[in-house]
Amino acid sequence: MTQTKRKAILLAGGTGSRLMPVTRAISKQLLPIYNKPMVYYPLTTLMLSDLRDIAIITTPEQQSSFANLIGDGAQWGLNIEYIAQPEPEGISQAYILAEAFLDGHPSCLILGDNLFFGADLPKQLSRANQGQTASVFATHVRNPEAYGVVEFRGERPIKIVEKPQEFISNYAVTGLYYLPSDAPDRARQLSKSARGEYEITDLLNGYIEDEALSVEKLGRGYAWLDTGTHAALLDAGNFVRTLEDRQGLQVGSPDEIALQKGWISTEDFEARIDLHGKSSYGAYLKSVVKN
Ligand code: TTP
Repeated sequence: MTQTKRKAILLAGGTGSRLMPVTRAISKQLLPIYNKPMVYYPLTTLMLSDLRDIAIITTPEQQSSFANLIGDGAQWGLNIEYIAQPEPEGISQAYILAEAFLDGHPSCLILGDNLFFGADLPKQLSRANQGQTASVFATHVRNPEAYGVVEFRGERPIKIVEKPQEFISNYAVTGLYYLPSDAPDRARQLSKSARGEYEITDLLNGYIEDEALSVEKLGRGYAWLDTGTHAALLDAGNFVRTLEDRQGLQVGSPDEIALQKGWISTEDFEARIDLHGKSSYGAYLKSVVKN
């Protein structure tokens, strides 16, 4: 049966090979970006989009570590399930692994190592959330050869090319994909690429061929950071630190967002503060209650 309510997938498996040896014993998405585990940032992006049914896909080895950190999500008013990806066989594979969880619902998939920031982001996301078509976000990057890049004819996307050798545009597709309920079926039709993965680019190009993909450009007022290399990880940490120090407001706190959204009570929020010891995160939560 076709369902309308959107469910979310947070994809946090992979090998993290560009971050070795840091990622030999711990998942990339559990590493800190300044004062929080990386996974908090994509998780809160989903929360800002009002998505509360979330499957977190991890490697089988790291599933218990994620569960220790996040549990079933009830502390933040979420329903969280865990799915293991035995081998990192590509982003599109997530739709096949999550098919039973999605159960005919449309989805929003976010990559576990992507950080989005921007004042209007919740509005943009809720537009994509309500849309019936497939939609992705693209952002201007200096080095498009490192990303999946959108080729446009006028404003119309005509193709997405993975790591283009020749320049086609500066617009990289970010790791946030709103797809209709047929995504698992379509993912099942894909073949593996030369690098042995079910490519998200191939899945999205299928929607483009059917004129069913909308590409929203995120303008200059947004930041999209990926954190896959040592330098990018440090840059993202510095970005968060700079913003938070200047504003006295934190980025990516699931506790704060759950409270703001009214998904948890002030009492439940307060009860969790002490779990954070003497950290600045705990001190921040105290200040949130006061204000
Ligand atoms: P990548 O950065 O492409 O891959 P990776 O995280 O394994 O890192 P590296 O390239 O350094 O080896 O993945 C982007 C995100 O998607 C990241 O959060 C991991 C996730 N991912 C999976 O969970 N499963 C997969 O099969 C792939 C390819 C990625």
